[in-house]
Amino acid sequence: MRMPSGRYSLEVNGELHALEAPAEAPLLHVLRNDLRLNGPKYGCGLGQCGACSVLLDGRLVRSCVIPLRAAAGKRITTLEGLGDRHCPHPVQQAFIDEQAAQCGYCLNGMIMATVALVRDNPRPTDAEAREALAHNLCRCGTHIEILRAVQRAAVLMADKEDGHEAPR
Ligand code: FES
Repeated sequence: MRMPSGRYSLEVNGELHALEAPAEAPLLHVLRNDLRLNGPKYGCGLGQCGACSVLLDGRLVRSCVIPLRAAAGKRITTLEGLGDRHCPHPVQQAFIDEQAAQCGYCLNGMIMATVALVRDNPRPTDAEAREALAHNLCRCGTHIEILRAVQRAAVLMADKEDGHEAPR
């Protein structure tokens, strides 16, 4: 059975998009298929792996279980909205610096979760970082590098706020 479509307006990474799609369409599908934003990944589709994470009005959410109707009118930030290869966000830079990827599939979720973590807790302990990322699944086993990246991200964010560059 086809779901009835409606018109929705989404603010994604500071840009407004008007689109027609089913109200219950998962936000992840709309982002990837309609808006061609491939930062958020499809992992489980059940809200369990974290690969699809985005910020919705600043709150970390799993876009595979958010229906379009619930995201309409809210501010959505995806990985693409943080920075790019020429001007990465400090958290993206930290993950690059620490080589915190193997296959890279989980990285969207790890980075978005780290952005939310260091915003709310600028100097997380290792235990706090582990807890914050505990429900983001990585099958390659780069957990040690990821935890190092979280600590480096906190340093880079603090340096950015102080207005100086962190040592490489
Ligand atoms: Fe959304 Fe796994 S794809 S949590």
